Amino acid sequence: MEASQRSRVEPFHVMEVAKAATARQTSHGDMIGLFVGQPATPAPEPVRQRAAAAVSTEVLGYTVTNGIAELRQVIAAEYGRRYGLTVDAAEVVITTGSSGGFLLAALAAFDAGAQVAMVRPGYPAYRNTLHGLGVEIVDLPGEVGNRFQPTVAMLDALKEVPDGLVLASPSNPTGTIIDPQELAAVSDWCVEHSCRLISDEIYHGISFGRRCVSAREFGSASIVVGSVSKYHSMTGWRLGWLLVPPELRTPVENLQSNLAICAPAISQTAAVAAFTEASRVELDSHVARYAANRELLLERLPRLGITDFAPPDGAFYLYCDISHLCDDSQDWCAQVLSATGVALAPGVDFDPINGHRTMRLSFCGQTAEISEAMDRLEMFLSGSEA
Ligand SMILES: Cc1ncc(COP(=O)(O)O)c(C=O)c1O
Repeated sequence: MEASQRSRVEPFHVMEVAKAATARQTSHGDMIGLFVGQPATPAPEPVRQRAAAAVSTEVLGYTVTNGIAELRQVIAAEYGRRYGLTVDAAEVVITTGSSGGFLLAALAAFDAGAQVAMVRPGYPAYRNTLHGLGVEIVDLPGEVGNRFQPTVAMLDALKEVPDGLVLASPSNPTGTIIDPQELAAVSDWCVEHSCRLISDEIYHGISFGRRCVSAREFGSASIVVGSVSKYHSMTGWRLGWLLVPPELRTPVENLQSNLAICAPAISQTAAVAAFTEASRVELDSHVARYAANRELLLERLPRLGITDFAPPDGAFYLYCDISHLCDDSQDWCAQVLSATGVALAPGVDFDPINGHRTMRLSFCGQTAEISEAMDRLEMFLSGSEA
């Protein structure tokens, strides 16, 4: 018997890089991974303490579907602290990573056959998940000029009004942050055109000067996606959340109760401590390191002749055009790994059309490693040019 049509989604190609990088580490012990958005640090100390205490004293069984009240409240309060917003805990639904949240959002908002726009390059799992749900992707071509973010002009130029728009700011793979005025305009456009906006804000907290604006600042019609994975350095805890507009709250709750029952209890309990001042101090020190890593790349990459990129405003990614170096980024990244031990992500995951001549660097590792990676890349490039 054949697998279903809907399961015929693209794999996450970067997992191939992960396999090759692990093999390199086993054989040579010198691998430097710049290919994955995995912070080099564990969850903040207060979270780890809360988790240890909970393991020894609590049952940690199923929780209510939408998540424990204490966590929903601290997340709602976080919108006050970060954006000056009043968010009711009833808007917050705790999910199994933002990935689980996105699935609930997409299922609640779109039927099979719906059209959903998103900028290319973008986060591949969104494209692939929507494909799996029978949703048609409407391509919004991003470029350095529009800083890889959607604009009202792009939406106005579409032949048909889409049913939805997914945007991510800061973006993966480019790290660009949408302008506050543009997000306001895009959000208004979506309301006027009955187009459901899903705003991925999972990298909020990691920015280098520009303010991360929340779509929630412009009303509550959009679905906002959040996560403790990135700023809070808690990827493996599989905990995210949604801010859900009133008319979608029962559908989202019903979907989650069937699909996941609830997010992991241990993660929910411990994550309450992620939103404390003590955690923020620890986490902001990681952001300071990401900022130093970003500066290092902005200085070193042009010296390697890599100049075609938008400087990242946030997250910990830099996405660059390498068409002067290759026409097959997968092959080129494999060559770099084999010659230098540096593992990079080819652009093919993020951009199915132009990704063969782009790559993404992830700079959430240690600064010394990133500096060493640049030294090795410099040697590789000077060797291949000689
Ligand atoms: C833009 C974006 N959205 C969502 C996710 C999924 O994150 P998680 O499920 O860990 O919250 C990622 C992961 O890298 C991402 O880059």
